[in-house]
Amino acid sequence: MMNKKILLTGDRPTGKLHIGHYIGSLKNRVELQNTGKYESYIMIADLQALTDNAHDPEKINNSLIEVALDYLSVGIDPKKANIFIQSQIPALSELTMLYMNLVTLSRLKRNPTVKTEISQKNFGESIPTGFLTYPISQAADITAFKANIVPVGDDQEPMLEQTREIVRTFNNTYGSKVLVEPEGMFPPKGQGRLPGLDGNAKMSKSLNNAIYLSDDADTLHKKVMSMYTDPKHIKVSDPGHIEGNVVFTYLDIFAEDKEYVNKLKEQYQHGGLGDVKIKNYLNDVLEYVLHPIREKRNEYKQNLDYVYSVLQQGSEKANQVASQTLKEVRNAIGLNYFK
Ligand code: TRP
Repeated sequence: MMNKKILLTGDRPTGKLHIGHYIGSLKNRVELQNTGKYESYIMIADLQALTDNAHDPEKINNSLIEVALDYLSVGIDPKKANIFIQSQIPALSELTMLYMNLVTLSRLKRNPTVKTEISQKNFGESIPTGFLTYPISQAADITAFKANIVPVGDDQEPMLEQTREIVRTFNNTYGSKVLVEPEGMFPPKGQGRLPGLDGNAKMSKSLNNAIYLSDDADTLHKKVMSMYTDPKHIKVSDPGHIEGNVVFTYLDIFAEDKEYVNKLKEQYQHGGLGDVKIKNYLNDVLEYVLHPIREKRNEYKQNLDYVYSVLQQGSEKANQVASQTLKEVRNAIGLNYFK
């Protein structure tokens, strides 16, 4: 076997995953997994989730199994990809500790994604240290597996930049070649971010504008019917707008029959096509995607012992790999006193 490239990615378990996650990363991960070209690691980042949820561990605990169910039901296959839990890999915490000495506080404060999150979360002066430093812990996640490729959303680029800096500083400082610089793999332009049901630029749990992979058919239908279209399109006969019309944005992404979508667009712009019609069609399109995912999810849900055993085995394997890297890192620094 040729040396496969190593791929590492993951999510914070702070809730269920939605179709924005599906389009932005999950679908891509399944495709990458199925190429057979990579050794894939997919991490549930419970420690990172705790950095701004220290007082609500139950939320993380409950979300962890939901995320695992979401992974399995979209087709991440434990035979092809290693799913594991961050907190079960002690080496990650030790690497974080060692990397902390290589990163300045001002550098952390400049990380644009962390900056945005800090203002969104209204921390004020009370930013948890763990939160500010989570990019260092993320560098530990990535380097522990010597990952070459990190498939993530666009907002994660600053984490990769910081990881590469840490890798270079580490290797220079300790004259080592242990750590590997990772590359990000980002969604194609225009496909990274799905707008919310309400027309907000981003689908997210906190904005309450998401369709979850686990939503049942009724919930899906209700949500689709509530979607933002064109506020000026009042009567069926009125000409409607496509731009900013969430129904058409979703149809562009999810519908296979592009020709039909183009016909609908023409008709809508011309006037004579009602919102209920396009929404019903979108509902069918989404149901076609989500039905099999939901069915699989329900099956796995009946068998949580199996799901936990997947996570346990994945974590055991991940532990071996990360411990080996930690050993090399300790040796590079000279933290090996006893024979
Ligand atoms: N920061 C990612 C998120 O917000 C989760 C994450 C933690 C991650 N460690 C990672 C992603 C390592 C890729 C690689 O969901």
